[in-house]
Amino acid sequence: MPQTVTLIPGDGIGPDITRAVVRVLEAAGAQFDWDERPAGVSAVETHNTPLPQETIDSIRQTRVALKGPLTTPSGVGFRSINVALRKEFDLYANVRPARTLVTGGRYEDVDIVLIRENTEGLYSGVEHYIGIGDDPRAAAESVMLVTRFGVNRILRYAFEYAVKNGRKKVTLAHKANILKYTQGLFLDMGKEIAREYEGRVEFEDQIIDAAAMKLVMDPGRFDVIVSENMFGDILSDLIAGLVGGLGLAPGANIGKDAAIFEAVHGSAPDIAGKNIANPAALLMGATLMLEHLGMAEPAARIKAALAGAVRENDTLTPDLGGSGTTDSFTDALIRRL
Ligand code: NAI
Repeated sequence: MPQTVTLIPGDGIGPDITRAVVRVLEAAGAQFDWDERPAGVSAVETHNTPLPQETIDSIRQTRVALKGPLTTPSGVGFRSINVALRKEFDLYANVRPARTLVTGGRYEDVDIVLIRENTEGLYSGVEHYIGIGDDPRAAAESVMLVTRFGVNRILRYAFEYAVKNGRKKVTLAHKANILKYTQGLFLDMGKEIAREYEGRVEFEDQIIDAAAMKLVMDPGRFDVIVSENMFGDILSDLIAGLVGGLGLAPGANIGKDAAIFEAVHGSAPDIAGKNIANPAALLMGATLMLEHLGMAEPAARIKAALAGAVRENDTLTPDLGGSGTTDSFTDALIRRL
């Protein structure tokens, strides 16, 4: 019996790239029973809410979802559904691997996995305005919330990830020199947990600003990086830029009871419906899902097909420098499989 997986096509280019990814998975022999559910702006139109209960119920049951991008209105309107899903399922680890696929760029040897804490820090959602006199927005305050529980589980996840995936080093990126309590707790616990892995995984810490510079100048020195929510958010896009941009950047959101796999990019409304969206990042997200489910063989075959297509400029979409379409690129990947 194929495993049931929740499939959320999402908004903008989402339906096109999820359709493409489902075709490639099938061609690779990775059979699933897809439970397709709505979310995002498209769900507001059909279900009057951006995150219908049926979608939450489905993920609770299947415990695994492949998700297309979801549009979040800026400033006004509903809050990010991606953040809501992370909260609902306590998806505390955001795992973003980045490896050079497009050769001829500045670096040929980037192979970094960024592990970002996904639930706390400055993105914990505790913020407010402070009124002074007749100005209700005279000041604003956002709380950087860090708990020993949260820090412990993300750091352990990073070290365990390194062990399981044959990685040599964990770098903890922080700002403990200035934020002595919140970031100090992160760093102190990192050092403590690193001792348990001595001899198996090397450990170093880097101040976030220095880490950003070193990533740009010498990315080959990094292996696994672990960091709090906002720093991880920023660094992961920087790292995606080192390997050819968002078109090749996947992400996994992992919790104890559920995992959601996606592309890092958004719904790309500017190219929606034009059949030129690149499905590669979501496809790479799907390979993370296959690995999570113990299906390493089809994952490796898909990664090889993708690397080959990118290397040989085989019908690539315009964002990767080709003149292909979503459909022709997908067909090329299937031929290679
Ligand atoms: P975006 O990532 O959607 O687009 C940025 C640029 O990259 C655009 O020029 C777009 O055409 C291009 N692009 C993105 N993905 C592409 C692909 N697969 N193939 C070819 N070109 C691609 O970021 P933007 O425009 O800031 O956000 C649009 C919407 O997406 C917003 O509502 C935002 O909130 C949402 N979003 C959702 C995310 C998610 O669901 N995980 C992540 C990031 C943004």
